[in-house]
Amino acid sequence: MEPKDKTIVITGGARGLGLCMAEAFALRGANIALVDVDQSELARALDVCRTHGIDARSYPTDVSDESQVESLFAKIQTDFGSIDVLINNAGIIRDGLLVKGKAGVVEKKMSLQQWQAVIDVNLTGVFLCGREAAVKMIENQTAGVIINISSIAKTGNIGQSNYTSAKSAVAAMTVTWAKELAAHGIRAASIAPGFMATEILKDMKPQALENISQSIPLKRLGEPEEIAHAAVFIVENDYLSGRTIEIDGGLRL
Ligand SMILES: NC(=O)c1ccc[n+]([C@@H]2O[C@H](COP(=O)([O-])OP(=O)(O)OC[C@H]3O[C@@H](n4cnc5c(N)ncnc54)[C@H](O)[C@@H]3O)[C@@H](O)[C@H]2O)c1
Repeated sequence: MEPKDKTIVITGGARGLGLCMAEAFALRGANIALVDVDQSELARALDVCRTHGIDARSYPTDVSDESQVESLFAKIQTDFGSIDVLINNAGIIRDGLLVKGKAGVVEKKMSLQQWQAVIDVNLTGVFLCGREAAVKMIENQTAGVIINISSIAKTGNIGQSNYTSAKSAVAAMTVTWAKELAAHGIRAASIAPGFMATEILKDMKPQALENISQSIPLKRLGEPEEIAHAAVFIVENDYLSGRTIEIDGGLRL
């Protein structure tokens, strides 16, 4: 699919990887619908996208809320007249060990709230937005692409029972959608980033980040542009579907 003049919906588009992908598509002449819970960051991101001379609009929405997501896609369809690409990028982390203990004494466990918050945004949010985008694409009878952002953590990572469960499920759901939606001309693919230099890592200690960098075969964090590059590749390559592209500098957790 040629991105020019297409409508690209990006969740979590107010900053980080989402905003970087928005700019990459704006530079290629696509129109952008930015979706995020963070209204002040959204306003800033909208200004950034509009500097590229395309139609960009913002939609404050919680992707884990079904009625908000249904209204969101109805509104985008009305505003742009089409929905060609969805990038399911919104995500959060709430890390913690399943059970933390020492010498037979349990100090802490992952709370149900910690678990549920991540599942709600990173898995249910992907499901809801993917479903509503597919509804519009099928009704419009136009080709479509859905990109889900998974993670290198999809194979399991210490302290991330919630996150790894969501990100592996997202990769599997992508395969399901590729199979189910192909008949409607819709492709689905996912991207599994490694450790990328964005705000999501801001709470990590500098030494921990340095240790991670040293464990990466390419010896550095990834740049958001390197994920945006993969997203553009997925949209442009009409024979790519049902697969996860891993952009992680060669690291395996
Ligand atoms: N940065 C990394 O190293 C890395 C690695 C692997 C995967 N990822 C994934 O890439 C995606 C983007 O990550 P990032 O680093 O840009 O993160 P980020 O924290 O910089 O941006 C995430 C955005 O999602 C928004 N968001 C959070 N909850 C939301 C909700 N309920 N509804 C709508 N928007 C919501 C936030 O407001 C924020 O703007 C996430 O899915 C993340 O899990 C990131």
